[in-house]
Amino acid sequence: MEAFLIEGGIKLKGSINISGAKNAALPLMASSILAPGVHTFKNIPNLRDVKTMAILLSHLGAKSDFGETLTISTDEIRADDAPYEVVKTMRASVLVMGPLVARLGHARISLPGGCAIGARPIDLHLKALSSMGAEVNLHNGLAEVKAKKLRASHIIFEKVTVTGTENIMMAAVLADGKTILENVAREPEVVDLANYLNEMGARIEGAGTNRIEIEGVKSLKPSVHTVIPDRIEAATFMIAAAITGGEIIINNAPIKYLKTFLSHLKESGVSVRMEDKGFKVKGTEKLSSVDVITAPYPGFATDIQAQFMALMTIADGISIIKETIFENRFMHVPELNRLGANIKIDGSMAIVKGCKKLRGAPVQATDLRASASLVLAGLAAEGITKVSRIYHLERGYEKLDEKLSTLGAKILRIPDKLP
Ligand code: UD1
Repeated sequence: MEAFLIEGGIKLKGSINISGAKNAALPLMASSILAPGVHTFKNIPNLRDVKTMAILLSHLGAKSDFGETLTISTDEIRADDAPYEVVKTMRASVLVMGPLVARLGHARISLPGGCAIGARPIDLHLKALSSMGAEVNLHNGLAEVKAKKLRASHIIFEKVTVTGTENIMMAAVLADGKTILENVAREPEVVDLANYLNEMGARIEGAGTNRIEIEGVKSLKPSVHTVIPDRIEAATFMIAAAITGGEIIINNAPIKYLKTFLSHLKESGVSVRMEDKGFKVKGTEKLSSVDVITAPYPGFATDIQAQFMALMTIADGISIIKETIFENRFMHVPELNRLGANIKIDGSMAIVKGCKKLRGAPVQATDLRASASLVLAGLAAEGITKVSRIYHLERGYEKLDEKLSTLGAKILRIPDKLP
């Protein structure tokens, strides 16, 4: 196991590039099942979750080749299952369900069960597939889905679900007739997937709005696609600049996807502006507290909640942060408090009373975004912070330590004896 040792208090300076979006790359890779042949993806991030998806695809019979671009050959899809060992390490494995049913007529997906941040069921994915004529059986921790041919349906999702929208969109592209999906997720990653599906010959309209229409087609052909930049990584680096009072330029920041986050960041006093060289973020001496309510896109992303909370720990005043998407997404709170933060949890609300200074301490990463918030807090804290269990970070941040080092951060990767 490895840990980060961070010497805090250094103002970050310099410029960086943002990697391809993890949450776009994973569904795109799963979509390759839909069309036999060789799919080419550019700007794929080098992340553990991406490798896990490649392992899952190879289990199904596909061949992935990571070079400058990722190619996935899906001429032969033999297996129809996502085993528990894979699903339990990466929930997004369920994204192969829609494509497998569309291509093979059957899929067996291990139920994800609870994860660190909440229950996260897939009942809405299954309900939608059954309304498209699939037979769904739950047994022995498995969801078994069968449909000789899926047929179009009019589905109104009870809750906005990102992977649910993506799974059903992929299931519907080869179905008979016109499927209408309402109350769908509007995330940029959903749009990126719809764009690739259309590049392959699908007929999808409305991605990015809350209603998507999909006219089924007979077959799809593999294509070449460039993954959009990761808005969550970009936001994390913007907070890194803000929390250290530094000044950084992000060369390829997907700012059009970050409007709500940027308005909160500006409200806290941080200066953000587009310049010739890129998007410049400059910290302030007088950071103000800002309230946050997480919501589906275009609202404030739950995936930035923990990182923004780290920033609020040193803001002037009290910030109320309400998490509305996941029921257990405050695991960073006790760890931030170990660094001297003053945060109390009241149900789905965190009350963050700004303090003058954080002080370094050993802390433990618990999930991907929580881990990022601890690294950010460590960058601002006086003294040394040791963040254990950084393997969580490797699931979703490409070379985080190296990128922070190029901005001047003192961050060291060390072996960790902790179990
Ligand atoms: C995706 C993202 C994740 C992000 C989340 C919310 C990927 C790979 N992951 O996760 O990074 O944190 O969106 O923006 O893109 N729900 C149900 N039944 C279902 C499906 C979802 O009750 O069948 C509930 C969930 O428990 C949760 C809410 O709906 O409370 C939203 O979940 P969802 O959007 O599905 O999250 P993911 O797609 O898993």
